[in-house]
Amino acid sequence: MTEHTTGPSVKLDTPFGVDYDLVHGIMKNPQVHTIRLASSMRGHYRDAKALEALVAQGDPVHYEVFEMKIPQEVGQLQFCISKTYPGTVGGECFMTKGHYHAVPGTAEIYLCLRGEGYMLMKLPTGESACERFLPGRMCYVPPFWGHRTVNTGDEPLISFCVYPGEAGHNYADIEKEGFPQRVFKRAGKVEIVPAKAG
Ligand code: F6R
Ligand code: ZN
Repeated sequence: MTEHTTGPSVKLDTPFGVDYDLVHGIMKNPQVHTIRLASSMRGHYRDAKALEALVAQGDPVHYEVFEMKIPQEVGQLQFCISKTYPGTVGGECFMTKGHYHAVPGTAEIYLCLRGEGYMLMKLPTGESACERFLPGRMCYVPPFWGHRTVNTGDEPLISFCVYPGEAGHNYADIEKEGFPQRVFKRAGKVEIVPAKAG
């Protein structure tokens, strides 16, 4: 992972505005810019050998997140642009790591701006859900649901996300549990399959 921090360019304790490039799906002058490469996705795709081949071939970017440093406090709102690139690893579509929120009872809204794909969601009990991402479509992630973005298209999948200030991220439990479903694209055909099946 590469995390690039630009330092405060706005005062966060007074009203402020942020400019977006909605065509390229980027926040202009973000305070935190996280870039996840193939090499930071080990353990997430079914085909570990295919992932290592991709790492050896140039370690492409899987996704980027653009954020401001909003205080992690009740009453604040975190917001970001999440941009997941197109591609596959052994047929499995590029995706985010996925996480629960560290404060589990906090929801999140994703508004899809460009591209296409799915939001995979799961509860710690194993119950799962899946929502389509298409431009103009919003996905509501209720409290307690883990969530992962999957790009099934041929261009970047870009969403604007908003969630409570205190939410935080819990990646460790999702890394242990995985998601009940995986999304593959073979010969242009998208398939959502149970994680344990082929
Ligand atoms: C924040 C959130 C998104 C993700 C982003 C990257 O709560 O859900 O902003 O952080 O899509 O995914 P992860 O965090 O799973 O690497
Ligand atoms: Zn989240």
